[in-house]
Amino acid sequence: MNVYDSGRMADAMVAAGYRETVDAGDADLIVLNTCHIREKATEKIYSEVGRLLPLRRRKPDLKIAVAGCVAQAEGEEIQRRQPAVDIVVGPQSYHHLPRLVARSNTGRPVSDTGFPVTSKFSQLPRNGQRKSAVSSFLTIQEGCDKFCTFCVVPYTRGTETSRPPEEIVDEALRLVDSGAREITLLGQNVNAYKATGPDRQSWLLADLIGKLSAISGLDRIRFTTSHPRDMSQDLVDAFAEYPKLMPYLHLPVQSGSDRILKAMNRRHTARQYIDLIKRIRSRRPDIVISGDFIVAFPGETEEDFQATMRLAEEVSFGRSYSFKYSPRPGTPAAEMPQIDGRVASDRLQRLQKLLKKQQHACQESFVGRKVTVLFERKGRYSGQLVGKSEYFHAVHAQVPPDLIGRIRKVLVVRSDPNSLAGKLL
Ligand code: 5AD
Ligand code: SF4
Repeated sequence: MNVYDSGRMADAMVAAGYRETVDAGDADLIVLNTCHIREKATEKIYSEVGRLLPLRRRKPDLKIAVAGCVAQAEGEEIQRRQPAVDIVVGPQSYHHLPRLVARSNTGRPVSDTGFPVTSKFSQLPRNGQRKSAVSSFLTIQEGCDKFCTFCVVPYTRGTETSRPPEEIVDEALRLVDSGAREITLLGQNVNAYKATGPDRQSWLLADLIGKLSAISGLDRIRFTTSHPRDMSQDLVDAFAEYPKLMPYLHLPVQSGSDRILKAMNRRHTARQYIDLIKRIRSRRPDIVISGDFIVAFPGETEEDFQATMRLAEEVSFGRSYSFKYSPRPGTPAAEMPQIDGRVASDRLQRLQKLLKKQQHACQESFVGRKVTVLFERKGRYSGQLVGKSEYFHAVHAQVPPDLIGRIRKVLVVRSDPNSLAGKLL
């Protein structure tokens, strides 16, 4: 979502007469867009601002802005800790960025971390000149009402809001007109999408996917990130119904222990998650499932952790993201008794070993098979392009550069650590 948001902030500044630069040294304004989900991400911004200080010394007019969820959570504290930061802007106020930049010209620190009643989306301009990425993002929903006890999102991004379907369709049409072939619908809780359409009916994510499927020139649709509780049957069916909806689903589980799931306030059990995956696979047998995991959540015993290992064994994930629990100020879990750091590292290592093995097994199972690849950009070696298979694997192949933006059948010849090597058929 930060990639998408950064693009929209750039659009807002272009409308205010700015141009994007490639080199930070040429810039009059540098925006650091930040993530607050785990502690490491927060610490990074201070070292990043530190690295910009020599630029600022050479060019005293250079403005530095901190945007995103760290800005939202820490607000003016950032400017107290690092006075070089001119502007602090939270995720709901990006449409105010040009005004904030103008205000900061007085030399005083400026900040905006409110939750305005008007939607920023309707006020954020689109840069008509800019070419869209072959695979583009489109935010359809923001915020979260789930309040998992470990998570800052409901506090930084606010409560769930869904954009109206007609606004989303408009934006999708514009993205396709300017070069997008694949659109990933974004939301912190994307499958909780619910909005009233121009027909006064309630639109859910599956309805939106159906509508977007009719756009000619749009070849692929994905969505992320979903919550197991909001995986309604019509959305499960959509994987069988709409050929443009790609057979890959990211569905975080976090833990395989019911006791921990309850303490996390996840509102589902391990069995419910496993049964849901079975239901999805019965509709779309080739689907690749990816997940998120947290180890060493407060109170997690070895037995709880073993339940997570068992769940991973039973589901078999094609790809995963796993993290040590990181206490976030202001969330309920941060107040609970914490697990020893070494225990946490040991569990993470054991889980990652298993998940890595599963990812490799999934990739290996494609060797010798045909996949369809949407080529997105040049690869590391000359003559090589990189794209994505329908299953979200990165695939590289020796193909002519004019295939960027096109879909071709490719034979998978090798599985590399994080990608597949293919041959054009
Ligand atoms: N500590 C560790 N991991 C976290 N995540 C969210 N909050 C935390 C936290 N406090 C992980 C979850 C989520 C992903 C985006 O980040 O697994 O699905
Ligand atoms: Fe955070 Fe996702 Fe839970 Fe919402 S559903 S609180 S975004 S982990």
